[in-house]
Amino acid sequence: MVQKSLNGAGLRGQSAGQTALCTVGQSGSGLTYCGYDIKQLAEQATFEEVAYLLCHGELPTQAQLAAYLDRLHQLRELPDALKQVLEAIPADAHPMDVMRTGVSMLGNLETEQSFSEQQQQTDRLLATLPGIICYWYRYSHDGVRISTQSEAGSIAGHFLSLLHGKPADPLHEQVMQCSLILYAEHEFNASTFTARVIASTLSDIHSAITGAIGALRGPLHGGANEAAMAMIEQWQSPEQAEQEILGMLERKEKIMGFGHAIYRTSDPRNALIKEWSRKLSAHTGDQHLFAVSERVEQVMWREKELFCNADFFHASAYHFMGIPTKLFTPIFVCSRASGWAAHLMEQRSNNRIIRPSADYTGAEPRDYVPLAERG
Ligand code: COA
Repeated sequence: MVQKSLNGAGLRGQSAGQTALCTVGQSGSGLTYCGYDIKQLAEQATFEEVAYLLCHGELPTQAQLAAYLDRLHQLRELPDALKQVLEAIPADAHPMDVMRTGVSMLGNLETEQSFSEQQQQTDRLLATLPGIICYWYRYSHDGVRISTQSEAGSIAGHFLSLLHGKPADPLHEQVMQCSLILYAEHEFNASTFTARVIASTLSDIHSAITGAIGALRGPLHGGANEAAMAMIEQWQSPEQAEQEILGMLERKEKIMGFGHAIYRTSDPRNALIKEWSRKLSAHTGDQHLFAVSERVEQVMWREKELFCNADFFHASAYHFMGIPTKLFTPIFVCSRASGWAAHLMEQRSNNRIIRPSADYTGAEPRDYVPLAERG
C-alpha cells in the first residue's frame, strides 16, 4: 500500500490553470488585478470600477461607470418569493447559509438560460447580495421588512444603509469601498477554484456561486475574520493579549487571521485595511481593540514570523463601523462574487472540464466476497 503523505497536499505550489485576472505574490506590492496594483486600486478606485475591471478586463470610462452604477441600482429589489424564503430562515442560522440559500433561491427564480446572460446575471447578483443578507438580518433580528431598493450610490453605502437603516457615514462608506476592493479577487483560492470547477462542467452561474459560498464559509478561508474578532474581543489590554497568544502558541492552536498559503512575509492587503482600522479606532474613541490587535501582530511576528493576512485588521475595522461579527463573512461574499463571476466567464471562454487525478493509497486489488460468506 502507498504510504499516506502530506507532500503536495492542498495542491500547494502547483499551477491548476491559467488566468488573466490576478497575480498573487508576484509583482508590485504582491497582488494585482488585471495588471493594476492592489495599493493603487484600494487607494484610488471604487469597488464598482474594480468589479467592472474584473468582468471586462479594462477599467470603465466615466460613461460606462455611470451606466454600470445605474444598472446595479435598478437591480437591487429582491423578488417576493426570495423574501419569503429569507423570512423563513431562523435568526440563529449561520449567515453564510443564508447567503448560500439566497443565491440558490434566486437561481430557481431567475435561472440562467444561456451563457449569453452571464454578465446580466453577474450584475443582478452583485446588486442583490447586500439585500439578501440585510433583509434576512433585519427581519430575523429587528422584526422589520426593509426595502432593498435604497438610494442610488455605491454598493458599499447600500450595504451600510440597509444594515443600519440610515444613510451611510461617509468615512464608513470609504472604508467599505476599500474593503470590498481588497476582497474582490485572489486568483485560485479555494472558493474561486470551487466556482471554476463547477463552471467547467458547463453548469449555471448560481450553482457556481452557491458552491463558492460554501467553500468560503470555512474558518481557514473567509470565516477567519469572524474568528479573529471572537478572539480579540475577549482581551482588555495588549498585555493580556500577549499572554493569551503565547499560551495559544504553546498549545499549538491556530491564530485566526495569520499566515497565508501563498504569501511568505506579508499580505499586501493587510497594511491597507490596518490603516483604516487605525483611523476608525481614533474616530470611535476605541480604548483598547486596536492596541490589542497591534500587540497580537507584533507577538506573532516575533514568536513565529507569522504575519497578518487580510482578515485580521478587517475584524476591528468592521467592528468599529458597528457591523455585527456574524455579518463579516457575508460582506466578503458581496465582494468576492465579482471575482468568482470573472473566473466563471474566463473558464467558460476556454473550457475543459477540470478533472485531476489522485495518488491511490487504498487496498491492493482483491476479490469480492459474497455477503453470505462474510459472517
Ligand atoms: N497560527 C498558528 N500557526 C500557524 C498559522 C496560524 N494562523 N498559520 C500557519 N501556521 C503554522 C502551521 O501550522 C505550520 O506549522 P507546522 O509546520 O508546524 O505544521 C506552519 O505555520 C506553516 O504553515 P503553512 O504551510 O504556511 O500554512 P498553510 O498553507 O497550510 O495554511 C492557512 C495557510 C491560511 C490556511 C493557515 O495559515 C491558517 O490556517 N491560518 C489561519 C486561518 C486564516 O487566517 N485564514 C485566512 C486566510 S486568508
